[in-house]
Amino acid sequence: FPDIDVNDKGHLTIGGADAVDLADRYGTPLYVIDEMRIRDNYRRLYRAFSERYSRFQIFYACKANTGLAVMRILEEEGSGIDAVSPGEIYTSLMAGFEPERILYTGNNVTDSELRFAVDAGVMINVDSRSQLRRLAEIAPEGLRISFRVNPLVGAGHHEHCITGGEMSKFGIMESEAAEVYSLAVDMGFEPVGIHAHIGSGILDPEPFMLAVESLMDIAGRVSEESGVEFDFIDFGGGLGIPYRPEEEPLDIEEFASRITGLFREKLSEYGLGKPVMCLEPGRYIVGDASYLLTRVNTVKESYRRFAGVDAGFNTLLRPAMYGSYHHILVADRPLDEAVEEIDIAGNVCESGDLFARDRKLPEIHEGDVLAVMNAGAYAFSMASQYNSRPRPAEVLVRDGESEVVRERETFADLLSKQTVPPRLLKR
Ligand code: LLP
Repeated sequence: FPDIDVNDKGHLTIGGADAVDLADRYGTPLYVIDEMRIRDNYRRLYRAFSERYSRFQIFYACKANTGLAVMRILEEEGSGIDAVSPGEIYTSLMAGFEPERILYTGNNVTDSELRFAVDAGVMINVDSRSQLRRLAEIAPEGLRISFRVNPLVGAGHHEHCITGGEMSKFGIMESEAAEVYSLAVDMGFEPVGIHAHIGSGILDPEPFMLAVESLMDIAGRVSEESGVEFDFIDFGGGLGIPYRPEEEPLDIEEFASRITGLFREKLSEYGLGKPVMCLEPGRYIVGDASYLLTRVNTVKESYRRFAGVDAGFNTLLRPAMYGSYHHILVADRPLDEAVEEIDIAGNVCESGDLFARDRKLPEIHEGDVLAVMNAGAYAFSMASQYNSRPRPAEVLVRDGESEVVRERETFADLLSKQTVPPRLLKR
């Protein structure tokens, strides 16, 4: 769980900057990104794995946060990218990632999207026989590809976030894998990778161990039956972070040691050589690096006690969509004792728009700035303009200095790209 840093005024600080000052200066709602937290998270993970298996690469899952500044930071750190759409490929290229460092794992991909990926020169991770067949009509002879396989292991913080197992729409069936690789070779492809992603928000190492075991067994069989040699084996993302203060983070050293240990064992069992081992974390790298600052505008006594804030699920969807817990601090007194239970309600016109129910907090007053923690992953990237709310600004902080990296949208942005047919215009 992230440390709560305070300055001599007792205010919460983020990357050395006073959260109350940031809210006053840039307005709310505001996303505040701590640059060093991203770098630290990346380096901790990279070091833990690369020290134990040197041919290791991280493909940051940019769906978690596609902010250009965030992507630039990770490009500098040496990361690759896991992209799910042409838009993410485009954003990654604009952020300076070489196409060779981008893995495109789409699902239900159209022909034009495939063409875009081929033209961009990124590695395509094929999800189905249909995709393979259609790719063959576009792809140059000998195109290097990989496949996403369903390892029949799934896990995740919510049913919606489990991506392996029999209910999942993702990947090639485990039982078909060898046949599909052989087919790809016959079609003139050069399959060089294998991939699985079992789900998201997983704090328990066991499902990952099962997935590594399963994917390595599949890789072994594929290699025996189709003669494919793997340049890389990708175990996907899904590494969880603590959202509640009482949750324990993954012990990353022990995790890396167990995963790389099993990986090495399986490599030698099947004679798979020394492929690059890949992980695709999103949340682990950016999740705790951003805070959503929102101001209380209304304290309301109804059948319950509500603090109404100036952000809603248009800004941070996770509580409404998954019932996710996000820890909340009062920015000018984050360490004060909790004295009341209160519902923190957003400003969207839906009853489900609650950041927290019965949350224990210090007494809340109108004008207070609240800091919603762990808002770095799947927060801005899932934001919308619902209720015609312009999306918030984002600032990047480092060593106490802050810079705007995304301007707050305006009302004009709500109308951009729309046209009204002339016959409907008022004469
Ligand atoms: N690789 C693939 C193929 C993925 O589909 C995902 C996430 C990841 C990597 C990264 O997963 P991570 O390391 O961030 O858990 N909106 C949900 C999470 C959806 C994740 C979708 N796929 C949430 O807010 O919890």
